[in-house]
Amino acid sequence: MLMTTTKAPTIAPPVPLHADEEPHVTTKRAPKMRAKDISVFYGDKQALKDVSIEIHDDRVTAFIGPSGCGKSTFLRCLNRMNDTIPSARVAGRIELDGEDINAPAMDVVQLRARVGMVFQKPNPFPKSIYENVAYGPRIHGLTASRTELDETVEKSLKRAGLWDEVKDRLNESGTALSGGQQQRLCIARAIAVDPEVILMDEPCSALDPIATARIEELIHELRGRYAIAIVTHNMQQAARVSQRTAFFHLGELVEYGKTSDMFTNPREQRTQDYITGRYG
Ligand SMILES: Nc1ncnc2c1ncn2[C@@H]1O[C@H](COP(=O)(O)OP(=O)(O)OP(=O)(O)O)[C@@H](O)[C@H]1O
Ligand SMILES: [Mg+2]
Repeated sequence: MLMTTTKAPTIAPPVPLHADEEPHVTTKRAPKMRAKDISVFYGDKQALKDVSIEIHDDRVTAFIGPSGCGKSTFLRCLNRMNDTIPSARVAGRIELDGEDINAPAMDVVQLRARVGMVFQKPNPFPKSIYENVAYGPRIHGLTASRTELDETVEKSLKRAGLWDEVKDRLNESGTALSGGQQQRLCIARAIAVDPEVILMDEPCSALDPIATARIEELIHELRGRYAIAIVTHNMQQAARVSQRTAFFHLGELVEYGKTSDMFTNPREQRTQDYITGRYG
């Protein structure tokens, strides 16, 4: 959307709700994931151009940029979801803990458990709340007994901040929950297989402000345990939940840095224009 105003609005300094930095981190650690020169083509059309970025543990990375700039495409590269799109071709290298995720030896099912995904529209399975969460641990053979599975389900629902609301109705259908509850159920489902990275593609865009605040709070709690990458159209949300922000435009990574710097003092004019609402 192009703004018609000639006067640039001032940048609203979005005050992060949560500590911007990681005071306990004093040494430079290896990134959890590293993308190097990633290009993606759908047929002849190039959707991403030479994107290089690192994603760290214990930190939320936000991907922002106008519609169609390639945010979802990039997110899908990180757990090879683009493999499911026949016309898509990915070039470049992506590492998880230094390991090439596109190597022939990489087990894609295993990869997607390690790098879980939460989508824009909550998509619980048409099964009970319990079964939604138990599904992953079961197919991956992560639990040895029913008791252990029960514990995993409870722990995952607790971590996703949903346990108290559903503990007395675990056998009811997941699809009968509210939108915000469904999204937390999907997060519990991702958590249940003990992932290392959680990818979220606009996880709040179908939710009301209260459910959104709940998910943002949850992201904050989860970031001590998982590396999180989130796509959002909401600048305030990016500022509130992330410590690093990547701005994409027309398939390129224009700028990547500390969220606080990006929103108060962007290096690139295109970033400035986007965050001040000139286009997008
Ligand atoms: N399955 C597909 N087949 C062909 N082209 C695609 C496909 N998915 C995405 N594209 C194209 O790739 C480009 C990037 O799309 P992508 O969905 O990654 O953008 P986005 O930044 O996530 O946008 P939005 O903010 O609207 O979700 C767009 O031009 C889009 O039309
Ligand atoms: Mg998208």
